[in-house]
Amino acid sequence: MLKKYEKVYKEDYQLWYEENKDYREKVSKDPRRLQFHLMPETGWMNDPNGLCQFKGIYHIYYQYTPFEPTGELKLWGHYTTKDFIHYKMDDPVLFPNSDYDAHGAYSGSAFVENDEIHFFYTGNLKFFDRDDYDYINSGRGSNTITFSSKNGHDFSEKELLIPTDRYPSDMSNHIRDPKVWEQNGVYYMVLGARDQEGTGMLLLYESKDLKNWSYKNRITTEEKFGYMWECPDFFEMDGEQILMSCPQGVETRGIDFENVHQCTAMKINYDFDTDEYEITDLKLMDRGFDFYAPQTFLDEKGRRILIGWMGIPDAEYTNPTTDMGWQHALTIPRKLSIREGKLIQEPIEELKQLRGDEKITLLFREDKKISKTNYVYEAEIAFEKCNNMRIELRKGIFLFYEDQTLTLDLGSYGAGRTTRKVRLEELKSLQVFADTTSVEIFVNGGEEVFTSRIYSLEGCLSIEGNCHGQMTIYPLNAFAIEGGYDEE
Ligand code: FRU
Repeated sequence: MLKKYEKVYKEDYQLWYEENKDYREKVSKDPRRLQFHLMPETGWMNDPNGLCQFKGIYHIYYQYTPFEPTGELKLWGHYTTKDFIHYKMDDPVLFPNSDYDAHGAYSGSAFVENDEIHFFYTGNLKFFDRDDYDYINSGRGSNTITFSSKNGHDFSEKELLIPTDRYPSDMSNHIRDPKVWEQNGVYYMVLGARDQEGTGMLLLYESKDLKNWSYKNRITTEEKFGYMWECPDFFEMDGEQILMSCPQGVETRGIDFENVHQCTAMKINYDFDTDEYEITDLKLMDRGFDFYAPQTFLDEKGRRILIGWMGIPDAEYTNPTTDMGWQHALTIPRKLSIREGKLIQEPIEELKQLRGDEKITLLFREDKKISKTNYVYEAEIAFEKCNNMRIELRKGIFLFYEDQTLTLDLGSYGAGRTTRKVRLEELKSLQVFADTTSVEIFVNGGEEVFTSRIYSLEGCLSIEGNCHGQMTIYPLNAFAIEGGYDEE
């Protein structure tokens, strides 16, 4: 095991990898490993990082602690794919090996321009020289760092762009997760931030050359919304400016903000000349238990694709896979759009290639229970009418619709987590992606989504209630992943 707060070089990792074949074998035998989601080969995975498509290849980097399942020292892991079905697991690319990032190569993003990928990330430092540090306003470093690549695999030297002491003076030590874009010849960067008073916000920087960055403004809601906003993203889509981020410390309001930390989208009307802005339409990105730190990018087809972390930090439950030496996964990729003013998430169409041949179509009518045994599947359910209904998604895991409220109920299969809800004017359709230990439910064509890990391993799929409609069920095949334990 590597020491907790010491730099880790590529050579240390390679040595550790050679010595840990048994660890990989143990993890690979866990029946809870997922079939069509990206996971850590061993240890811990969190945020997707540096998402981009470069010369036809999608690069999916991610926060990675291969050494143990509870996440400590963060590296960047790396998957690549051309089609979101066949993947290659590559070696980790970014190590906490410099004086600016020795305690974690934290989250960051990619910006592609002129045959080059420019990466921006946060170098995390924890200082141990004094015992009066609170690690909020003192004792931590959050350096904004860049490096670049001409192929996604070989990288330039790291270059420090904004050191911890150069952020606005009223900020705490918690500044991180840069996301960069270009607009009208100017480069912009948003960073997640917490000020010294404990107010969550974003810092906006601008640059003419991607190297020299100057502070431009801070962005936050009129009323305080949490103490820290992590993992921001800012993009224009279908004529709207969207700001996504992950506010921490927001109080639960009824059935909203029930998770320990949130992931929200807001519409923003930002005037880059005057720095005036208006924030409207705040929305929870996901209604399930396990969705955080999503990142979006524009692919070569012009799609705005989102991938999120299928997990959440500081959750008060123990993920059962921890015992087998691993935790967490990424969500399936989703295409974003705006429909009738609403932010929509839909599974990307490539995933249809995972569908097996034995498709089943069922018509259901009032009070008639239909039951099929299914395990790893996609189900499309179109309702002609639905006053109430109950679907068993997997043995002991239910989705209820009653009094215009849709409830996901994990029963005794949620490792202590039970229900999450959303209010709907009407339930029109559901699209369910069920993997061995996860479920992603797209409601009314992607207007709402529930993403959760689930731990019932017995197949079962039934629908009953005062509702009419049609359900189509497809068995799903697994991703093909090259590299890793099976190929050694
Ligand atoms: C979000 C986050 C980021 C940070 C990273 C560290 O999950 O806390 O803010 O950069 O994870 O792994």
